[in-house]
Amino acid sequence: MPGLKFDKSTIPDLDGRVLLVTGGTGGIGAEIVVELAKHNPGRIFFTGRNVKAAEKTTERIKAVAPNVSTTFVACDLANLATVKEAADKILAETSRLDIFLANAGIMAVPAGLSTDGYEVHFATNHMGHALLTKKLLPLLEQTADMPGSDVRVIYTTSLGWRNGTLDFPHLKTTQESAVLGRWIRYGNSKLANMLYARELARRHPKLLCFSVHPGAVETGLVNNLKFTDRLFVRVSMMGTISPEEGTFNHLWAVSAPRNSIKQGGFYEPVGVFPSEDAAIAKEKKFGQKLWEYTEKELEKWMN
Ligand SMILES: NC(=O)c1ccc[n+]([C@@H]2O[C@H](COP(=O)([O-])OP(=O)(O)OC[C@H]3O[C@@H](n4cnc5c(N)ncnc54)[C@H](OP(=O)(O)O)[C@@H]3O)[C@@H](O)[C@H]2O)c1
Repeated sequence: MPGLKFDKSTIPDLDGRVLLVTGGTGGIGAEIVVELAKHNPGRIFFTGRNVKAAEKTTERIKAVAPNVSTTFVACDLANLATVKEAADKILAETSRLDIFLANAGIMAVPAGLSTDGYEVHFATNHMGHALLTKKLLPLLEQTADMPGSDVRVIYTTSLGWRNGTLDFPHLKTTQESAVLGRWIRYGNSKLANMLYARELARRHPKLLCFSVHPGAVETGLVNNLKFTDRLFVRVSMMGTISPEEGTFNHLWAVSAPRNSIKQGGFYEPVGVFPSEDAAIAKEKKFGQKLWEYTEKELEKWMN
């Protein structure tokens, strides 16, 4: 993984397109918004919980692109009431949304439940993003109908999805297990991210929906782990990459010609499309059920 390359000169002029990045307050999300700000977007929305960190991202954007309109939207993905509020704020403030990076996430945190009672990785990484996506779908579809549009919904997943499973009757439990439980819960939530992008792609063909793995990146997600977990990441992923390198797959996902990207696909860094067999097997087992579960659970938040 170390030694990744991406040519930033291939990032196109964003020509007034409107972007939304979740997790723009830190890690790769902050690096992505600062980089994309240099390419003439019409407006950048980014989300997170940490207001001080949001101010820092806004200052960094101002330093590289003083004229780009930037809006921080506070939102706790593990609390669906705040996700609904965030979506309503975005809908009230823009009449187009071209690029949505569902990127924020937590990894290997202790067992717990979200405000709404879901296992906390599943809540933060999947349910919060699914509600935001559902609320924004009419705007995304409307943008896709505009002349010359190129609307992309890009979910951040992880290689961890390959070992994931979705135990539907227990998604509202802490899902504790004796060995590596926190990693299992993370992998399960990242399976949901990968599958949800596939399910969206099938149902909303006007939008280009797919998922990307950034690599094992030296962000707070990894660096704040306890020593043995950090070691686990570094050994199992055969090394780590810098936050800048950690943006490469996302920047590729925004930049690559639309017709070169497979609708619903999963991409490793940078722009690598591995065999789809594993994704198809997971889709057969869990895809439709995940869609139906999510639809039903989110119904009450859609008014
Ligand atoms: N780093 C890696 O090695 C790696 C590998 C594979 C996949 N990924 C994926 O890449 C994505 C970004 O990871 P990262 O490395 O940039 O992590 P990071 O440095 O920990 O940043 C995580 C971002 O997510 C936001 N976030 C966390 N919990 C949230 C919540 N409850 N509500 C709203 N926002 C929340 C944080 O903002 P606030 O604190 O302001 O809320 C922060 O902006 C994640 O989806 C992760 O699973 C990372």
